[in-house]
Amino acid sequence: MKIGILGSGLMGGKLGTIFARAGHEVVFSYARRKEKLEGLARDAGPKARAGTPAEAARTADALLLAVHWSRVDDVLKQAGDLAGKVIVTCSLPMNADDTGLVIAHTTSGAEELAKKVPEAKVACAFNTVPSEVLFGVYEARGGASRPSLVYCGDDAGSKEIAAALIRDVGFDPVDVGPLRIARYTEPFALLMGQLAYEGADGPELAYRFEWFGKQEL
Ligand SMILES: NC(=O)c1ccc[n+]([C@@H]2O[C@H](COP(=O)([O-])OP(=O)(O)OC[C@H]3O[C@@H](n4cnc5c(N)ncnc54)[C@H](OP(=O)(O)O)[C@@H]3O)[C@@H](O)[C@H]2O)c1
Repeated sequence: MKIGILGSGLMGGKLGTIFARAGHEVVFSYARRKEKLEGLARDAGPKARAGTPAEAARTADALLLAVHWSRVDDVLKQAGDLAGKVIVTCSLPMNADDTGLVIAHTTSGAEELAKKVPEAKVACAFNTVPSEVLFGVYEARGGASRPSLVYCGDDAGSKEIAAALIRDVGFDPVDVGPLRIARYTEPFALLMGQLAYEGADGPELAYRFEWFGKQEL
């Protein structure tokens, strides 16, 4: 796939690198310095390059939105026409100092994003794990038990793309339903952040769901 990264920081930089190493064509965009995007592209290998948000969006099969909530309007404006585009968002609707959600319960960041770009197809994924665990999960992807990763969305095609990308990173995708379920996954992401950054065992944290009833005897 051709994947445009909108926001090449901790999440976008690492996920874009993994997508490129997994064989996708990646355009890194949206950082304060062009050299940073070029450095990321160099490290990610021959499948990656640096560009503007508009360049990242133009030919993309999927876009990863990975910016602070306060930058969403700006990056969308710079990306231009997103009609028909698949947007996988990992962005959480956090306040300025990242201490809490600015919207929750009756709506979610993912739903509000979908309202901002009604012509695009939004799926919500990768928001429930810290960036610190991503390379470790990718390296362990051949192992026996993969960590889970929840995703949701209203469009079947964009959810298929999100699930494929989740698998490429090394997680087991767990479809939790329509986009409004982001009302539950976004607060869950803060729980993961609490454990990752305030817990004793460090931020390389993932999770795995187990269905005991499905166990074969
Ligand atoms: N970090 C995590 O572990 C994690 C986990 C789950 C969800 N999330 C969510 O994922 C989203 C991205 O998080 P992150 O930690 O990857 O953020 P980040 O490291 O701050 O990256 C954001 C990107 O946006 C760019 N940016 C910010 N202001 C800009 C401006 N004025 N002009 C151009 N570029 C600008 C940054 O540029 P620079 O590179 O120049 O700084 C950076 O590339 C957030 O919504 C966050 O809540 C993060």
